[in-house]
Amino acid sequence: MQRFTRRDAATLDEAIRSSLAELNQWLPWARMDYSSADTVAFLRESMAAWREDRAWDYSIRWKHDPDRHIGNVSFWPVSRLGKIVEIGYWIRTDETRKGICTEAVDRILQEAFDSMGQHKAVLRIAVGNHASDRVAQKLGFTKEGVLREELLIRGNWVDHSHWSLLDREYRAMRRGEMAR
Ligand SMILES: CC(C)(COP(=O)(O)OP(=O)(O)OC[C@H]1O[C@@H](n2cnc3c(N)ncnc32)[C@H](O)[C@@H]1OP(=O)(O)O)[C@@H](O)C(=O)NCCC(=O)NCCS
Repeated sequence: MQRFTRRDAATLDEAIRSSLAELNQWLPWARMDYSSADTVAFLRESMAAWREDRAWDYSIRWKHDPDRHIGNVSFWPVSRLGKIVEIGYWIRTDETRKGICTEAVDRILQEAFDSMGQHKAVLRIAVGNHASDRVAQKLGFTKEGVLREELLIRGNWVDHSHWSLLDREYRAMRRGEMAR
């Protein structure tokens, strides 16, 4: 996992285009007319956000094949006072169901809880997005409830489940894993 640079435009663009049918169902920005200009704008914004401590986007790549973009995992503060961060992700369609997203989010949790001292990590998942629900469950998140008509996706206001994981829950799970 690494932060983005301007050099990532072509490989990121290829990954998004190859997966647009899937991404389009759940992510507002993944319009079917998504263009290279959108990728360039994303990279510019991602680099600025990182510099200004507004959000941290990571590009997921295989070590043995660094030119192939596998997906994105990002996190950003939703409450500095409450020490709450939100996490978002997508994985290119031909690499799904291999545990990549779960592993990438786990790395973000390490960064958020161990390095940054955050208190709570949250996910907002469209109702019906069972793959993403499963990622939340595998990482020990608790479903807090449903946020009504939270995001406009392809012209429909979509309810989203709100999931969270607390730092002490994360640490207890880590201890459990180490004891095994
Ligand atoms: C959601 C997403 C990121 C998951 O990525 P991934 O790398 O496949 O995730 P993982 O392999 O770590 O885990 C996925 C789990 O969901 C399960 N799954 C996949 N599709 C499923 C479906 N339609 N119904 C139920 N479970 C499903 C997998 O079997 C796996 O669970 P398992 O390990 O118990 O078998 C990916 O599907 C994606 O990019 N979707 C489109 C964008 C998106 O929805 N982003 C998230 C917005 S909140």
